[in-house]
Amino acid sequence: MSETTTAQAATGGARIIDGKGFAAALRGRIGEAVARLKAEHGMTPGLAVVLVGEDPASQVYVRSKGKQTLEAGMASFEHRLEASTSQETLLKLVAELNADPAVHGILVQLPLPGQIDSAAVLAAIDPAKDVDGFHVINAGRLATGQPALVPCTPLGCLLLLRDTLGDLTGLEAVVVGRSNIVGKPMAQLLLGESCTVTVAHSRTRDLPGVCRRADILVAAVGRPEMVRGDWIRPGATVIDVGINRLPPEQEGAKGRLVGDVAFAEAAEVAGAITPVPGGVGPMTIACLLANTLTAACRARGLPEPALI
Ligand code: GUN
Repeated sequence: MSETTTAQAATGGARIIDGKGFAAALRGRIGEAVARLKAEHGMTPGLAVVLVGEDPASQVYVRSKGKQTLEAGMASFEHRLEASTSQETLLKLVAELNADPAVHGILVQLPLPGQIDSAAVLAAIDPAKDVDGFHVINAGRLATGQPALVPCTPLGCLLLLRDTLGDLTGLEAVVVGRSNIVGKPMAQLLLGESCTVTVAHSRTRDLPGVCRRADILVAAVGRPEMVRGDWIRPGATVIDVGINRLPPEQEGAKGRLVGDVAFAEAAEVAGAITPVPGGVGPMTIACLLANTLTAACRARGLPEPALI
């Protein structure tokens, strides 16, 4: 029995979308492109990550970003600042990174401590180095179909969708969640693929009924297992962006990680579905590296390598 068949037998039919494997292969292709850039143009793409404070989850993310950046052959610049850092100090660091030719991508880890205005910091990042794609210039470019740096998580979702479904033209896509980081850019990307897109959210009337229309359902609401099996159209492709840790008293020592979709129920009905963990999560950092490579190539006026 093949691996896929085993997975299908265990989950009532849905194909399990292997984001972890796809992300590893993508990082491999990025590493090869970085090696070529070094050999042919003598340049090393560089990513600067700024962490303010000691939020445990942010520390884990920043460590993995640094490790995977180095593994891809890129330069990694980590800046760790105290939780009490002033906005002025952070803005000064951003200005230095904007001016540093060895830095092609800048990421300021969110959330930032309360004394700092996150919007002002994101607005200070050079849009050409904004590898998070959070700057209004990049959001505007994406919305108007111009070349942009695209937020990493929705970009990762799109790559998985294209790999699973091929051409997305004409498909009904429902995005549940309207955040600037995932929901809105995801909707723009799907529009760009000629899907018919609905953006739903916690205040949508008859949310289950709206979800049931979807050929593609992207759940990005941050509520554990909110999307139930009977919200899913048979055969639909389900992309679960949620990463929620259930309370330890419910699930043992550390608490189990679940998505925004009730996985076991959904896998009975869907045609394909991303698991949590191992689905969308690993794609985010792989796309951050892809954006850094893109930013480095654009900075030098070089063609962007085809990674997909
Ligand atoms: N915090 C959690 N995820 C992210 C991300 O993708 N980018 C930034 N800047 N901060 C985050």
